[in-house]
Amino acid sequence: MRLPSLVRDSMRLVRAADPRTFWSGAVLQIVSAMCATAIVVASKLLLDGLVNGHISTGALVIPVIVFAGATALTTSTTSFQNQQQRLLVEQTNRLVWRRLLGVTTRVDLQTYERPDFFDRLQRIQNNALTRPTTIALSTLSLLGNAVGLVSLLAVVFVLQPLLVPPLLLGALPTIYLARRGSASEFRFFAKYTAPFRRRGYIRQTLSDRGAAKEIRVFDAAPLLIERENDLSDEYIAGLRVQVRRRQLLSAASSLISAGILAGTLWLVVILLVHRWLSLSSAAAALIAVRVLAGQLNALFNAIGGIVESGVFLSDLDDFVSNTPLPPESDAQPRALTDRIELHNVSYRYPSGTAWVVRDVDLHIGAGEIVALVGENGSGKTTLAKIVGGLYPAIEGSLSWDGATVDPENRAALQASVSVIFQDFMRYHLSATDNIVIGDHRRADKRDDLRDAAERAGADAFLADLPAGYATLLSREYGDGVDLSLGQWQRVALARALFKDAPLLILDEASASLDPRAEHALFADIRRSLRDKAALVISHRYANLHLADRIYVMQSGHIVESGSHTELLTLRGLYAELYHLQADAYQTEVEETPSPNLSQRQASARIRT
Ligand SMILES: Nc1ncnc2c1ncn2[C@@H]1O[C@H](COP(=O)(O)OP(=O)(O)OP(=O)(O)O)[C@@H](O)[C@H]1O
Ligand SMILES: [Mg+2]
Repeated sequence: MRLPSLVRDSMRLVRAADPRTFWSGAVLQIVSAMCATAIVVASKLLLDGLVNGHISTGALVIPVIVFAGATALTTSTTSFQNQQQRLLVEQTNRLVWRRLLGVTTRVDLQTYERPDFFDRLQRIQNNALTRPTTIALSTLSLLGNAVGLVSLLAVVFVLQPLLVPPLLLGALPTIYLARRGSASEFRFFAKYTAPFRRRGYIRQTLSDRGAAKEIRVFDAAPLLIERENDLSDEYIAGLRVQVRRRQLLSAASSLISAGILAGTLWLVVILLVHRWLSLSSAAAALIAVRVLAGQLNALFNAIGGIVESGVFLSDLDDFVSNTPLPPESDAQPRALTDRIELHNVSYRYPSGTAWVVRDVDLHIGAGEIVALVGENGSGKTTLAKIVGGLYPAIEGSLSWDGATVDPENRAALQASVSVIFQDFMRYHLSATDNIVIGDHRRADKRDDLRDAAERAGADAFLADLPAGYATLLSREYGDGVDLSLGQWQRVALARALFKDAPLLILDEASASLDPRAEHALFADIRRSLRDKAALVISHRYANLHLADRIYVMQSGHIVESGSHTELLTLRGLYAELYHLQADAYQTEVEETPSPNLSQRQASARIRT
């Protein structure tokens, strides 16, 4: 991207983040830059007075005041500015993240499957930690220094026009070297992003609470630390070359600047000797040239910062404007009066070529409990995501009460289906928040919250927590409590029930429940679900006789369907899987001499 458009984009971003802080920051920068010019002008007037012998006259009062005032102002604006900049940095940061999250939270779930999207998202997220700061600070500094530079050049021009061309010419090599430095920085970042990110992942894993137990039990630390070391070596080797390159460039730049400074000073001396410059003007010119060098340096740093952030800015802009988003909608849940029906539905993941769901015909009537079973990887979760409107049917169609759902506009479907996922979320928030996330519009409905928790079997232990429902369910982000896996699953179930949707999908929702809790859920499932329709995915066959209909999946196909009894009579895959489980229980009961509680429950469940 070209420099002017980069500068314009950076300004636009920072200004949009917080116009008031931006403008006040800019004014402070300009004031402080102008102070430098004022000091040069005051010096010249003072020197005029001293050289011409007007020491005690009132004419010197004003330059003295200006000199002292400008010096004091520079010092005070600097500290004021630093604080102001903190605000602006934070606001810019917030704006960048808001834009980023505006995409990540709305983008079609399928997009997360695309490696290009994910790589780019990761890259932007990594950069979003530091780049907004650079952009905000560089933009302000650029503004101030550019104005300061112009006014100082004007002063030098008034003192002696001949001094201006060498100063301008002198800047050219430095600009060239600064740009070369930035370009090499791009190449370095592009080349070393991968090892840098992988190293970050390993470091994160090595300090992650969830990973800590496996790392201990497998003594995985030495292996992971070795990987971290290798990646660090690779990155640092690259960094060493890059640092040397930048040091060389900066040495060259300093050398050229020193040469130009010396040349300019020499020119001042020549002009002084030939009386084209008075003594006071020469002294003022010397001060101006010195101050100018500092401002030029700051300006280049600011340009460097903006140029180096350019890739990030264009990445972010492109990400925000070119990631396809579903149309904005405030879809309300629909009632289900008849049935939801899938006809010849097929699906494959964007990353794969194989069909994961193939030619599926399935229907769920209002208030029906439908079960979906099948071996690992047979496509159950994927199918559930299609029913929940998260993935579109690539082939075939899905209809809701007879109306076909547009695959490109599934918001209403998403609003009308509640899901408890196999890998449900455990939010590090209060128990209340963990449940009302299910439907933020009804977050204040405390009775509904208690009701959902009760139906999910979570009310009793949540109410017993130190601060009841207000207790933070996290040990990592405050002084809260952690729950057991089964308790977490009940909370997730409460969340799914709190969303008042006419269809609930339970993907292995009882996998971590104890037998009593599972029994309570299924024995009275119609009451738990308030007569809503449900699609229940489960590997535990004992409760499936409750289902109005069972679909059996194998390699993406529905291979059998019917009631529990019908499927047993069929002696197909369902009967085989059912008996594998049931026989295991039976054998255990028969082989164990003294019956205990768990066996009684096991055999009871099999007989139901
Ligand atoms: N994000 C993904 N990208 C590509 N393929 C995927 C993805 N998720 C799942 N698959 C593949 O789709 C197939 C079906 O997966 P799915 O999760 O639907 O199975 P499942 O029946 O729910 O299995 P389980 O009983 O283990 O939960 C598997 O072969 C899996 O490898
Ligand atoms: Mg699954």
